Amino acid sequence: MSLKTFVAEALNNFQTVAAISPSSRFLATAMLEPRTLARTRVALELGAGTGAITRALLAQLPPRAKLLVFEINPRFFECLQQSISDPRVILINSSAENLDAELRRRGIQKVDAVISSLGLAFMPEDDRQALFQRLSPFLHHKSVFTQFQYIHGMQFVGGRLCRLNLRPLLSRYFGSVQSKIVWRNLPPAFVFTCHARSQ
Ligand SMILES: C[S@@+](CC[C@H](N)C(=O)[O-])C[C@H]1O[C@@H](n2cnc3c(N)ncnc32)[C@H](O)[C@@H]1O
Repeated sequence: MSLKTFVAEALNNFQTVAAISPSSRFLATAMLEPRTLARTRVALELGAGTGAITRALLAQLPPRAKLLVFEINPRFFECLQQSISDPRVILINSSAENLDAELRRRGIQKVDAVISSLGLAFMPEDDRQALFQRLSPFLHHKSVFTQFQYIHGMQFVGGRLCRLNLRPLLSRYFGSVQSKIVWRNLPPAFVFTCHARSQ
């Protein structure tokens, strides 16, 4: 069910879904930082799709943690509502660009972990910058941000396909950026693990 939903939505909305299938369990595991998650009080997941990473994340979060899950696609959101009933989860059918308003509305001042599957390469440059500018005030010096990018790393610029290197963008907002490759995913992906700047 969730694979069928995913592929159908990917074909209809490739610009936002930016994937051909849900993440493998290998990619999901690589996106998680067990040491950070074990002490996480508030985590954000940006772009949950049908929940491939959400479920792996919930297996590692402490019982009292909160996980705010942003998913813009209404069909994926419905799928998440039907398949995830964990009291730690708050499902938000809104763009990740509204994260500051959603956090403030709930009285949340800081987040410990951010797990993003957003297709950053397919977002306009201004939206990418706006996203990180809105997220930055909610990070503390031990916060961890993880993002994956498929190995081809293509983006559209002026209707043309070219490569986007995420490292310079992430280095602008984080003190350290480490990457590794996960081959067992379709397609293989880089996982970037970023630590906030010490303040
Ligand atoms: C590459 S898919 C990853 C889905 C899932 N996390 C996985 O790993 O299988 C990206 C997801 O981000 C969602 N998305 C794209 N832009 C978004 C935005 N601005 N805010 C929230 N979700 C967004 C898409 O609808 C899609 O579900």
